[in-house]
Amino acid sequence: MKHKDIDRILVSEEELDKITTRIAAEIDRDYNRPDKRLVLVCILKGSIMFMGDLMKKLTVPCEIDCMKVSSYGNGTVSSGSIHIILDLIRSDLATCDLLIIEDIIDSGTTLSYLTNYLKLKGARSVRTCTLLDKPSRRKVQYVPDYIGLEIPDEFVVGYGLDFAENYRALPYVGILKPEVYSNAK
Ligand code: IMP
Ligand code: MG
Repeated sequence: MKHKDIDRILVSEEELDKITTRIAAEIDRDYNRPDKRLVLVCILKGSIMFMGDLMKKLTVPCEIDCMKVSSYGNGTVSSGSIHIILDLIRSDLATCDLLIIEDIIDSGTTLSYLTNYLKLKGARSVRTCTLLDKPSRRKVQYVPDYIGLEIPDEFVVGYGLDFAENYRALPYVGILKPEVYSNAK
């Protein structure tokens, strides 16, 4: 059943399941080596559902950690500057192969900033995985290592993604009716 504020479903539960299965297989293939120590870094809060589904499907050993950053205000336009609200604090970064798990890449600011930041902090390797990619919105040149699906320039919610903290619990990714965010302005 579609939520009343959703215009249309862009990525169904079945499609999300196929995407996480495919990406998990790609990660398994790349990290299944004795010299790798895979640490998934969930970017809170938007990536929790994606990361939860993805990690269940991995067969390679992995550890998990979390960071929280903000780039959006309460609206639908990125502010362009990144604030680290919860940092990655661990003393063993030099032996960690970090894989940043992100819900969506838009301007590219968040992922390019975090990749540089975690490399500078001393991680052995840093790669990135995003469920959704809006390539037409890029302001910073950045190509994630693993991409679930390219989508058009629409504001989407569900499966962890929010608008003003709502809709994160929807089991699919949907396009929000424009009147919902224009009413909220
Ligand atoms: P970037 O730094 O511009 O690439 O923005 C990435 C962040 O913006 C994501 O982690 C999301 O939190 C947020 N974001 C971008 N597009 C959307 C969207 O369509 N719906 C919800 N959040 C979005
Ligand atoms: Mg996010």
